Amino acid sequence: MDAPSLQPHDLDGRTILVTGANAGIGYWCAERLAVRGARVLLGCRSTDRARTAVGAIVARAPDADLRILPVDLGSLASIARASADIGERVDAVICNAGVKTARREARTNDGPDLMVGTNFLGHFALLAQIMPHLADDARVVAVGSLAHRFARIEPARLAAPWRGASLRQYGRSKAALMSFAFELDRRWADSARSAMCAHPGYAVDPLTEPRSGLAEVPAPLRALAVLSRPFVQGKDDGAAPLIHAATAAEAMGGDYWGPGGMLEFRGAPARVTASDEVRSPTIGAELWAAAESATGIRFSA
Ligand SMILES: NC(=O)c1ccc[n+]([C@@H]2O[C@H](COP(=O)([O-])OP(=O)(O)OC[C@H]3O[C@@H](n4cnc5c(N)ncnc54)[C@H](OP(=O)(O)O)[C@@H]3O)[C@@H](O)[C@H]2O)c1
Repeated sequence: MDAPSLQPHDLDGRTILVTGANAGIGYWCAERLAVRGARVLLGCRSTDRARTAVGAIVARAPDADLRILPVDLGSLASIARASADIGERVDAVICNAGVKTARREARTNDGPDLMVGTNFLGHFALLAQIMPHLADDARVVAVGSLAHRFARIEPARLAAPWRGASLRQYGRSKAALMSFAFELDRRWADSARSAMCAHPGYAVDPLTEPRSGLAEVPAPLRALAVLSRPFVQGKDDGAAPLIHAATAAEAMGGDYWGPGGMLEFRGAPARVTASDEVRSPTIGAELWAAAESATGIRFSA
């Protein structure tokens, strides 16, 4: 759907920030957006890994307009530095960086649980502080997950130690990010800015087109993975709903895009359904207040 040859340079003049752009789905967003002419800011915590990604993109698109923006979404100090350094207009932000861990004790630099702290609070803090740089018609895309249905958000105990399965806590972090995006869109109702969600389905490295220095997968594993292709997809294809949400004329504030195939695991971008909880204005407002309190950052959208 986002084949470069079909959409040459249709994004000239647009600047798009992709967090977690050095690997996986974020890398593919960056490569495809750059091929289409966008200036891409790669928001990455490791400059070395970001440079590897830049090298891979430039190998495909020598005239790609790229900038590395160092940012660790698990550190409020790093987010503040990146926000102060950004210094240019941003037309869209894809809040893609994400972490999944089974380590119950894992925390961000600032104390909250690693998954909620990075996946949600990090993006909340980043957007709060880059607001002055967002274009009047900016789009924000929050990368959600099918797992958002696995857990309740519970804004009152947002940054507290978690209980139960790690997948449930991961789902909670994604539900929080999605709820935040829908709330942001409601707060932007009187402006031309918009916020929406997108998810990549079930996207795996062994089905992804290889790129030098990125997620090297042994050939036998790639060969075996082909058997799973009817059910899941590569991270290159997983990027498509995110890119669609960030760039397509038909994508609107409050939308949720994902793969349109069976179980939303794979397929071309389509509008999909989010849970009632992440769409709830009451939960959204409570979550917003809880995020301000957890980060110490006031976000007046
Ligand atoms: N793959 C799927 O099937 C799937 C399904 C649903 C949703 N998602 C979501 O899609 C997004 C991308 O997933 P993926 O499969 O591409 O994951 P991935 O291959 O593990 O890539 C994750 C990216 O996030 C970055 N990141 C993690 N913690 C960070 C931090 N503290 N600061 C800055 N960057 C950080 C990573 O950077 P480092 O290299 O520095 O670690 C990496 O660039 C995630 O939000 C994930 O939750 C994925």
